[in-house]
Amino acid sequence: MPHLTRRQFSGVLLGGVVASALPRLSRAASAPRLVAQEGMARLAPPDYPETVIWGYGGTVPGPEIRVRQGQRVMRDFMNQLPQPSTVHWHGIRIDNAMDGVAGMTQPAVASGENFLYDFAVPDAGTYWYHPHNRTWEQMARGLYGALIVEEPEGAIPVDHDEVLLLDDWRLAEDAQIAGGFGALHDWAHGGRLGNWVTVNGDGAFSRPVKTNARMRLRLVNTANARIFTLEAQGFKGWVVALDGMPLDAPEPLERLTLAPAQRADLVVDVLADEGEEALLVSFERDGGFAVAGFPVTGRARPARLAAPGPLPPNPVPELGDLTIARSVPLVMEGGAMGGLQSAMLNGQDTPIREMAAKGKVWAFNGMADMSDTPLIAAERGETIRIRMTNDTAWPHGMHLHGHHFREVMPDGTTGPLRDTLLMDRGAVAEIAFVADNPGKWLLHCHMLEHSAAGMMTWLSVT
Ligand code: C2O
Ligand code: CU
Repeated sequence: MPHLTRRQFSGVLLGGVVASALPRLSRAASAPRLVAQEGMARLAPPDYPETVIWGYGGTVPGPEIRVRQGQRVMRDFMNQLPQPSTVHWHGIRIDNAMDGVAGMTQPAVASGENFLYDFAVPDAGTYWYHPHNRTWEQMARGLYGALIVEEPEGAIPVDHDEVLLLDDWRLAEDAQIAGGFGALHDWAHGGRLGNWVTVNGDGAFSRPVKTNARMRLRLVNTANARIFTLEAQGFKGWVVALDGMPLDAPEPLERLTLAPAQRADLVVDVLADEGEEALLVSFERDGGFAVAGFPVTGRARPARLAAPGPLPPNPVPELGDLTIARSVPLVMEGGAMGGLQSAMLNGQDTPIREMAAKGKVWAFNGMADMSDTPLIAAERGETIRIRMTNDTAWPHGMHLHGHHFREVMPDGTTGPLRDTLLMDRGAVAEIAFVADNPGKWLLHCHMLEHSAAGMMTWLSVT
């Protein structure tokens, strides 16, 4: 079984290996393979054994896919896992048939079978791919990779473009992935939280840099349920994009919160000096620890570069008149300490104890799991508002497929384009988007245990 050596690893990071393997293909038969399979990864320190993982190409992360805006991505997905799977291209405003939602946009791909994914990427930015069947198990075992869509040349010139996929793993003493998938305690609380954090599958990620070098750091939270609170120390810079979408103007980088599935593109300059180490630090309740190190060797230039301008905007339609837009409520309930008594499950009002016995502990608008009818049946081009109320004792990261939305603030202004919104316990947040992409689209919590345990609904656009 091939595994990722540090050498191959930096090849992947620099994009050289993968980019050159991306010919422009016209025939499906020659689409590059993307194989979901078992592999070995060195997640833990060298005195531990390697970890058996599931990965695309047998590696964690899977191969980086890098294309230019407007190009097609074609992958012949082959499932060599012992259970059915699919590939979802997170954040891509994709053709519905390619969205990879098992049981909704396609049947799950059985072991030994394949499925051809073929789609255009309308927006530049930082995206990623992961399974959408038993996601809570398959992603926890390592199935994910970056999908980078490059802007036209020279948008913001940098010395290094670094993709950093953050994950947390639940490892047993022998550094193998702990069992207990589907444990009700995780599902009803904060999800399957890990005990070991990696960046690009490396528990001691390190990358040499030079003082005054300018870097683009593309951060992706690939964890099942962990919310990362991050600081870049020894760097100074800006947030230039969130969830793939450029901000109107770069914002000075401070502490950054990344909910599961969220991304942030940073443009930072190395301020640390020769012999020092710049760090990406994650803050937990009991303090901070470095998740990635950037030891400084030498100087790239005598002084910092000038501040960057914004990235070019993506072709996302402007919101229609919000004062006349349809507004739909979405009340999130359930979970531990949530006081939920019962909810509709498979068309029946079901008491919470019975729900829990079936692995369901959360509800949207009194409904656990997917309903036969969509939360919203939108007409193509309609601007929709969804007013979400987090009536639970837990934070949730709400993700909409196929569209990016803006948060509508109480004063009527709107936030940046996003595909995943973190909602603290008790929070009320309203989002608005133009339903311009025909098909069936999920809206769910991206804490994977929560969506599996009921926090899942859908919209139709016709
Ligand atoms: Cu990233 Cu429905 O998922
Ligand atoms: Cu949640």
